[in-house]
Amino acid sequence: MCGIVGYTGGEQAKLVLFEGLRRLEYRGYDSAGVSIISPKGELNRVRVVGNLDALGSTLATAELHGTTGVGHTRWATHGAPSEENAHPHHDCKGDIAVVHNGIIENFVQLRAELQGSGHVFRSETDTETIAHLIEENYNGDLVEALRRSLKAVHGAFAIVAVHREHPGLIAAARRDSPLVLGSGEGEMFVASAVPAFLARTNRVLFLQDDEVLSVTPDGYAISTLEGETVAREPVEVEWDLDAAEKGGYEDFMLKEIDEQPRAVADTMRDKFDDSGGVYLEGLGVTAEEARRLRRIVVVACGTAFHAGLMAKYLFERWAALPVEIEIASEFRYRNLVVTSEDLVVAISQSGETMDTLAGVREAGRRGARVIGVCNTVGSMMTREVNCTIYTHAGPEIGVAATKTFTTQMTAMYLLAMLLGRLRGEVSDEKYSRVMDELKGMPDRMYEVLEDDAGVRAAAEKYHGCEDFLFLGRSVGYPIAMEGALKLKEISYIHAEGYPAGEMKHGPIALLDENVPVVAVVPRDSVYEKMISNIEEVRARGAPVLAVATAGDDEISQICEDVLRVPATMDMLYPLLTVIPLQLLAYHIAKSRGCNVDQPRNLAKTVTVE
Ligand code: M6R
Repeated sequence: MCGIVGYTGGEQAKLVLFEGLRRLEYRGYDSAGVSIISPKGELNRVRVVGNLDALGSTLATAELHGTTGVGHTRWATHGAPSEENAHPHHDCKGDIAVVHNGIIENFVQLRAELQGSGHVFRSETDTETIAHLIEENYNGDLVEALRRSLKAVHGAFAIVAVHREHPGLIAAARRDSPLVLGSGEGEMFVASAVPAFLARTNRVLFLQDDEVLSVTPDGYAISTLEGETVAREPVEVEWDLDAAEKGGYEDFMLKEIDEQPRAVADTMRDKFDDSGGVYLEGLGVTAEEARRLRRIVVVACGTAFHAGLMAKYLFERWAALPVEIEIASEFRYRNLVVTSEDLVVAISQSGETMDTLAGVREAGRRGARVIGVCNTVGSMMTREVNCTIYTHAGPEIGVAATKTFTTQMTAMYLLAMLLGRLRGEVSDEKYSRVMDELKGMPDRMYEVLEDDAGVRAAAEKYHGCEDFLFLGRSVGYPIAMEGALKLKEISYIHAEGYPAGEMKHGPIALLDENVPVVAVVPRDSVYEKMISNIEEVRARGAPVLAVATAGDDEISQICEDVLRVPATMDMLYPLLTVIPLQLLAYHIAKSRGCNVDQPRNLAKTVTVE
């Protein structure tokens, strides 16, 4: 999330920075800005709310001369999209400009300390802290000031900074957020991704974690946070510009599927306090209130609804709370008696889905406390709920939700565990066990992503089928629903997701050798029951494609095809089992020649009822 660009060379930075930001627009588009050092040694800045069209119109008439500067296009994480919160951020004196991608976890503490030393803050962002920290540490050497500042910073960052006293110099650094140098002839670029400068140079150098970069038009130097020199040469990339805009991927959907481990880690990053307890900013539910809760009501649509359906099992199991889960568009037609003793959880990637917003308003009218789970800072939903739990999936451009689903489930794991703790339903031992496992899930997700070839082979085999049945039990049931939704959305194949035990009450009549059944069957507490259902399917001649746990040999003996996920706790399997289903839908759709990023008839955000 967020696109950053720095330039130093012989051309007008305004044009070069804007061109670079255009190439990174997919990374964020709620506000944007540039700061440029003028020939007189002033630092001039332009920032606007909105996408890059808005910045382009303002820049067209702005008197902004100079050949060194930084630019940013924002996907808000801290503070609503506004001019004050847009990057670049300046220090008190307006000497230093900073652009940043990532999350500074200890910014509240750092800001308080800096304010104590007289620094005046003008935004709500975590990024502004860095500008003030550099100011505090500056004694004539910008790169050294950045290095010193970063020693105090916790979290993820890609930072690019300039100082008006050093025209022609860019200082940059990274940790857990991408940053790449583009090395041209008499000009240099620093950006979040190669597309920003690929039209001008294909000689690139990828910065590593905790490295600091010093860049001038004719050269660069890399050093560690401790000041040791690092020798590394640029390499030539062969990408063509169009492909590189998707980071080298053919489609945004595949890129977003692959980004899931990172997105899940980012979603967890700001949700633990210093003692390791789940901390959900602004939740404000006391132990007493949690114990008095009567019920949880979840409202959502589409994929977000499936995240809610999965969470129903968590709230019941971990927090001993009854749960009503409602498709948002039906919420208002039910005479659901919602009171102040109920907690309503609305889940929406965009925060702008009309049906979900209507549910939020209805719940508010009835006096319930409403929590939003949302990916979009400043969206309508976040302004109408009592508290928002942000997922940090970053911009999702493919219409089919993928990384926003796994991050929504992550947020729900944390909420359910926190409520369970507050209500005294979860022991310390269980809490630590589950949270340790959850923190390790991004690594396991990477493992699942490695078997793309297996999924591709299964897609090749089944892509001609016109009907699919997806089956699961317990938390595998919402995953079966989500797998079926993904397949129908992007491949236009008829698919149904069903609780496996319900199959014999109707859908079994559909089965024959032309209807593949996708079974979500990890080694969990309902495994034996799933095996019985698979046997029922086989008896009708339908082929079975299983998503099962690595090392489970029994399943290979009864299913035609098996896609594997690593072992984990029963309740956490959904973060793994959904990935092969996303990839299956993707590869089947590609084999059928479908446009996976923009499937027919669908919109990314549905703002009508
Ligand atoms: O922005 P939201 O999460 O509120 O969107 C809800 C649904 O419209 C969305 O999940 C939709 O079902 C996706 N296309 C699913 O891939």
